[in-house]
Amino acid sequence: MSALFSPARLGGLQLNNRIVVSPMCQYSARDGIAQPWHLIHIGNLMMSGAGLVIMEATGVDAQGRGTLGCLGLYSDAQEEALAELVRQVRPLSSAKIGIQLQHAGRKASTRSIAERWKGEPLPMDEGGWPVCGPSSEPFDKDWQVPQAMSHADIGRIIDSFAAAAVRADRAGFDLVEIHAAHGYLIHQFLSPLTNRREDAYGGSPENRMRLALEIATAVRAVWSQEKALGFRLTSTDWHEDGLTLDDAVVLAGKLKAIGIDYCVMSAGNIAPGIKIPPASPGHQVDFATRVGRETGLTVMAVGMIGQPKEAEAIIAEGRADFVAIGRAMLDDPRWGLHAAAALGVDVDYPPQYLRARPNNWTGYRHIHPETPHFQASRQADRPASMLWDRPDDGPQPATEEVVVSPKTSRL
Ligand SMILES: Cc1cc2nc3c(=O)[nH]c(=O)nc-3n(C[C@H](O)[C@H](O)[C@H](O)COP(=O)(O)O)c2cc1C
Repeated sequence: MSALFSPARLGGLQLNNRIVVSPMCQYSARDGIAQPWHLIHIGNLMMSGAGLVIMEATGVDAQGRGTLGCLGLYSDAQEEALAELVRQVRPLSSAKIGIQLQHAGRKASTRSIAERWKGEPLPMDEGGWPVCGPSSEPFDKDWQVPQAMSHADIGRIIDSFAAAAVRADRAGFDLVEIHAAHGYLIHQFLSPLTNRREDAYGGSPENRMRLALEIATAVRAVWSQEKALGFRLTSTDWHEDGLTLDDAVVLAGKLKAIGIDYCVMSAGNIAPGIKIPPASPGHQVDFATRVGRETGLTVMAVGMIGQPKEAEAIIAEGRADFVAIGRAMLDDPRWGLHAAAALGVDVDYPPQYLRARPNNWTGYRHIHPETPHFQASRQADRPASMLWDRPDDGPQPATEEVVVSPKTSRL
């Protein structure tokens, strides 16, 4: 019996397993509107074997988008495109589908697609736009000086999160995740490194948490209890004057009291030039464990969880309730199905792909000879007519030459 593949509740949702596709920006929207790329990308991930797929950070207003290629959810056209996407991908599997809502604050208006990785601001004469933040300190030299937000601005942003959640509901999403990490607007208010305000939204930890909690309350009021609502939080700023895991525990407890269903514990990216310890497999899991144990809130672990056995151990040992997988899913969009095979779990396959299922395709033996799924299928009493299912067959021609290379094998 696999813990990773055990069903679980998340808020009002029933999920088939504990595997979540972590939100990942695609920088491929036009005017914030989802394109065919998003349909193909998310459609593919719906067939990954994950129980939940969360779509990328999506701007709650035009100013809050990170890049010109980021999704938005503040216009009818954006809502309709996402509603159509949800309609199209829903029948592909039993996975639930969520969306992450965000405002990039002083980190908005940056370059898109491949250029994005340089993390450069987008100049006004190339389509950039004015940015805002808790204070008027730019992210880095040569970045725009943000407009320090007035109380009216703050009120508008809170309303924008709630309005985007209403649109997400109408578009058919099962889950909303609020992005309060990675140095974006909510994180900028939370962190003493970026919040220099002296009003009710700055100074003490309570004041710095105010925006996050007001957004949580506003979104909770419009988001159905039958769905799920979560927050992505920062576990540490990796800076002696910044946020720590103690702060995250306090915030997670307050979010739980408001009725938030889960948090996913990430870290970093509040400011440039901070020395961060090198990442290693599962490097952020302990953050999630502590938050979960001390608050009782459902927690997701994220960050370099790539091996099925590691993911299984995290859930089996009660270190997190869910594992969110990012890059490993981009690299191998059938990660969940391959994890099931590696752990010896029988899961549903898309019928179109059934002939590639490890117990129907002996080529799998040559790629992953040790997997319990394969060994169990050898002993099972399977119909002799099943294509490829001939236990004493030698190597299958052609395909294995291509796939046996260690470079193409992940498990
Ligand atoms: C291409 C890419 C885009 C990402 N976009 C987002 C995003 O939109 N929102 C977010 O919270 N994290 C984003 N992340 C971070 C991932 O969700 C995840 O937290 C991170 O990659 C660590 O997990 P991993 O080691 O499994 O990839 C992104 C990561 C990648 C690689």
